[in-house]
Amino acid sequence: MSEYREQSVNDGQETGMTPEAARKAAVEAALARLDLPARVALLAGADMWSLPANERIGLGRLVMSDGPAGVRGEQWTPDDPSVALPSPTALAATWDLELVRRAGRLLAQEARRKGAHVVLAPTVNLHRSPRGGRHFECYSEDPVLTGEIGAALVSGVQDGGVGTTPKHFVANDSETDRYTVDARVDERTLRELYLAPFETIVKKAHPWGLMAAYNAVNGVSMTEHAELNNGVLREEWGFDGVLVSDWTGARDTVRDALGGLDIAMPGPATVYGEHLVKAVHEGLVPEELVDDLARRVLRLAARVGLLAGAPAAVPPEQLPAPVDGEALVRELAARSFVLLRNEGGLLPLSPATAPESVVVIGAAAAEARIGGGGSAQVFPTRVVTPLEGLREALGGELRYELGADPRTFLPPAGFARRAELLGGDGVLGVETLANGSVRWLGALPGEVSFAELTGVRVGGTLTAEVAGVHQLSVRGVGRFTLEADGVVLYDGALLPEGEDPAAAFLNPPERRFELELAEGREVAVTLTYTMPEASAFAGFGLVSFELGHGAPVVTADELIERAVEAARTADVAVVVVGTTEEVESEGVDRAGLGLPGRQDELVARVAAVNPRTVVVVNAGAPVLMPWRESVAAVLLAWFPGQQAGEALADVLLGTVEPGGRLPTTWPAEEADCPVWQVEPTNGQLDYSEGLFIGYRAWQRRAGAAPAYWFGAGSGYTSWSYEGLEARLAEGGGEALAEVTVRVRNTGERAGREVVQVYLATDGSDRSRPDRQLAGFAVVEAAAGAPATARITVPRRAVQSWDAAAHAWRTNPGVHTVEAGPNAGERPLALALVVPQQP
Ligand code: BGC
Repeated sequence: MSEYREQSVNDGQETGMTPEAARKAAVEAALARLDLPARVALLAGADMWSLPANERIGLGRLVMSDGPAGVRGEQWTPDDPSVALPSPTALAATWDLELVRRAGRLLAQEARRKGAHVVLAPTVNLHRSPRGGRHFECYSEDPVLTGEIGAALVSGVQDGGVGTTPKHFVANDSETDRYTVDARVDERTLRELYLAPFETIVKKAHPWGLMAAYNAVNGVSMTEHAELNNGVLREEWGFDGVLVSDWTGARDTVRDALGGLDIAMPGPATVYGEHLVKAVHEGLVPEELVDDLARRVLRLAARVGLLAGAPAAVPPEQLPAPVDGEALVRELAARSFVLLRNEGGLLPLSPATAPESVVVIGAAAAEARIGGGGSAQVFPTRVVTPLEGLREALGGELRYELGADPRTFLPPAGFARRAELLGGDGVLGVETLANGSVRWLGALPGEVSFAELTGVRVGGTLTAEVAGVHQLSVRGVGRFTLEADGVVLYDGALLPEGEDPAAAFLNPPERRFELELAEGREVAVTLTYTMPEASAFAGFGLVSFELGHGAPVVTADELIERAVEAARTADVAVVVVGTTEEVESEGVDRAGLGLPGRQDELVARVAAVNPRTVVVVNAGAPVLMPWRESVAAVLLAWFPGQQAGEALADVLLGTVEPGGRLPTTWPAEEADCPVWQVEPTNGQLDYSEGLFIGYRAWQRRAGAAPAYWFGAGSGYTSWSYEGLEARLAEGGGEALAEVTVRVRNTGERAGREVVQVYLATDGSDRSRPDRQLAGFAVVEAAAGAPATARITVPRRAVQSWDAAAHAWRTNPGVHTVEAGPNAGERPLALALVVPQQP
């Protein structure tokens, strides 16, 4: 932290230089003092998260940290908690650039608190298919919305003097075989869809970094893709930041260097280092090219205030005012919730609702899923669950029923809090855990080194609070011994599924064991993990496994019966349904879109006995909702972050309106999805649908309508669309037209509307989507009052990429400007005649 302040002494003023010129001078001076090996040393991780310091040139250690929904820092455990924001899909659902910028500032504040200089975010791949495992981590199916939200986030983080790496450049839109898959995407589709958000972000927000994806595009691995990295990104768009590999994504010294990859992460074992020095000596990589890579890394260091003599991009006195993290996370979540159905105006519930008249049902109500799985995961100090939030707001105990438990893995054992680090001579160190989950990447607690570590033993005393069959589980990859009161229950090896090196900690297998226990019985349980000969994760020190425990449960039938009985006599039933970590996570794509377990049955049965059933959907990505028209209200809460329950109470009781609108079309049936196939064939994933993903595809469909269109959702009031005007902008600049949309709040309370403007073609060129989002704005108005949205439509909205000419081409002629509340509902339209561009 202090490094920012101590080293940003020269703001250029003494020398009369602009800060930028002063940074440049400091970078060149530093570079001049380094020989080739020292320059090369700047280009690869010193460890899992950092680039090495170099005292001679006054260069500090530069730390990077995941990620889009919070800043985890250098540890991957609950021991180092972070503020957990709502999932990126939720951020996009706000459609509110100012709010997202504030989220970025919170990330910067968290990064500074944790000593990180670069946040590995945002994820701006597209929602090509709802099956994408990282769907929750990306923003939208639309490149305009993705680009704008991404640019706002980057601006917010960088306002705080912390760098970003929009990722994963490019076409990393699903997870199956993500290290090796070759995305086959035609040039026009790449330009108009997948590159577009990166282009917007680079041009509008000037990120100091970008992350190259694991996958290949049209046969070339993205870390090596000179045409896209050097050509499009740097020369065409003017990107002047660093290009960092995705973790372990750099695989070839020469091709990566020539392909424009500045930083190979993580380290210390990378394809750069001595290999790159050798390649230069052999004449395979020009030395000046290495200088360019090193220059960019030093520029990043200068920007974040880590290079002596260089003014930081944001001097300490210009840092934004501190953000109240909990308050902002609560606001973001409520603003992101999407109200999809509200029959008879059931919501908001009266704040005077008696707590005993409400029954809350569902596993996610008591144990909210606050974020998706994988590298986006952070560990908050505290989570306010929906049950807690509602209890607090209504001021009394609520009835609660589990109803259905969709989890497929046992939770980490709460009793297992002692971890012993084992070496040849016995116990090297002891660590207290939050629970039976161990996750150490790159570094171990205390002074213990990976070289001396032979194993880790986790354990504690299980006290049977309930008599019956208790379950213990081992989850991880490697060799394990599980013992209960000295009796060996398991001694064997668990193997990973698939070839993803990160699978060992992202999606490890589980084995379960049963113990019949009398009430009050105490059992000493230990799980010992033996270190493998070679690290499972690309030469990296990694310990990641879990001892799980499940207390006896009643049968699934009984769980549902109990919930139905409670709902029958309640005035209101709030059912919280959702996905699980296994369903929505990095590293795997989803098999289907159904809610896991018996949750659909639970909702249908509760709704059958209680007409005032509110279903809250706790998922980061589309799920099927076969019951959606037989319940009174459907509220989509995404992965709402750590203040989940408070935000939910705010919205259910109407303190705050649900402000979100869908950033992606939600299907009614799996079979209707425009893109389903995410598994490559012979290593290739063909983007054969071209431009037709999301609403661009749905609007061509005869017969199948989505459950909810892109943009859909409502607050607690109603709006009429009353007037539309469009004026062509002067000259041939980036702005095409200024559009004005007049709306009126026709309901009885103040509200907020996301006004959307689409541009439709005249239909003569079928290669172009019928209509595309051209701009949007958030307006607010009191009951009965009008509001005006002013939206600048960019010229790009009427352009197509001409692959033959290798250039953007304006489509002249008649376009229709449409305005409305979602892609399926556009009550206002007017013709706009676009002249041929000079
Ligand atoms: C993910 C990146 C992430 C990195 C570091 C990779 O597996 O794809 O998004 O930033 O790990 O955790």
